[in-house]
Amino acid sequence: MAECCSKSSECGTGCGSQGIGVYADVKDYYGKQLKKTSDLKSNACVSPAKPTPAFIRKALKEVHSEVTSRYYGCGLVVPECLEGCRVLDLGSGSGQDCYVLSQLVGEEGHITGLDMTEEQLEVAEKYIDYHMKKFGYMHPNVDFVKGYIEALQDAGLKENMYDVIISNCVINLSPNKSAVLREAYRVLKDGGELYFSDVYSNKRLPEEVRTHKVLWGECLGGALWWKDLLLLAEEVGFGTPRLVTAHYITIGNKELESLIGDCKFVSATYRLFKIPKSCPRERRQVIYNGAITGFEKMLEFDVNCTFQEGQVAEVDGEIAAILKGSRFAEEFSFQPVVKTQPASTGCCPAVSQVLLCPAVGMWSKPAAISHSHSSSTELG
Ligand SMILES: C[S@@+](CC[C@H](N)C(=O)[O-])C[C@H]1O[C@@H](n2cnc3c(N)ncnc32)[C@H](O)[C@@H]1O
Repeated sequence: MAECCSKSSECGTGCGSQGIGVYADVKDYYGKQLKKTSDLKSNACVSPAKPTPAFIRKALKEVHSEVTSRYYGCGLVVPECLEGCRVLDLGSGSGQDCYVLSQLVGEEGHITGLDMTEEQLEVAEKYIDYHMKKFGYMHPNVDFVKGYIEALQDAGLKENMYDVIISNCVINLSPNKSAVLREAYRVLKDGGELYFSDVYSNKRLPEEVRTHKVLWGECLGGALWWKDLLLLAEEVGFGTPRLVTAHYITIGNKELESLIGDCKFVSATYRLFKIPKSCPRERRQVIYNGAITGFEKMLEFDVNCTFQEGQVAEVDGEIAAILKGSRFAEEFSFQPVVKTQPASTGCCPAVSQVLLCPAVGMWSKPAAISHSHSSSTELG
């Protein structure tokens, strides 16, 4: 129990008294108690809401079965347009997502997985050579680092290093989520993106839920109220969180259900951009060039915003700045909004209208949030 306090100055997580014991408990849960996906005690870590694209299914098939057998993620953390990117995976576990992304970034790209649990890192590291051989790479483009997601500097990760950070069902486990977002922002390059799946609740969770070890370990007890994510993201300097997908979580365990009472949970994937300050936030017409592998016909950027190849779409100032200032810049052409032109597809509503996870009342009445996800629900 005392690990966090006795070592917080050492590990630099700044977790304070609230985090007492959390690190030790989570390491014990993922290092000793769970040996395989089916050992989980609830449905919180479930498959993604969206169907997995064929090229990602193919990449997944290449991953060693010992790695996939210890997968505890709650979403699909494969953003588009990764070729040549430097990627960081926060809480990489046994490495499944790293080995999928290793294939997508290619030999010129690189992915670093960071985790604090020795047993998870051991499995991940054991198969580096196996995968590099399988992918035909001369030099490994994957490495794993032991460390805390709240203290990336202590783990040797320098600022402005990464194009993309992914994380799959991990940030809820942190006792200091604000530090996690601050550190992610620091190590991202300008224009970089934090693309992550996590569990969110429909309200701030009561003490008895937050302090229950199994609920915390199962990624429920530490879930953020989704509105707090919006506050934290803004505080840290990220642009408006963009919801990619969300679906309601069933617990599937009577004992845990009785403990959580009327708290509700969803698994959601958000994208948060570190928008360069120099990028003007001006409404633009944009045209997607269809050159991103796997998304040649259309690019579903978030639940509100789908770009069709070759079609003019009008976007608000923030999306224009994101596209212009990020790795997507080369995939779009940009032009000022021309009032006299025929109506464009106008895929992206103004920032104030962007669907984040609104409508607490929607809990009992799941509604599709995007044409393609029938099982999705609006959150909170
Ligand atoms: C639910 S598992 C997800 C693992 C992996 N992303 C996956 O999809 O299989 C959570 C992982 O995050 C790691 N973790 C939790 N809190 C952490 C922290 N504060 N710093 C570093 N790693 C952490 C755990 O050790 C565990 O491997």
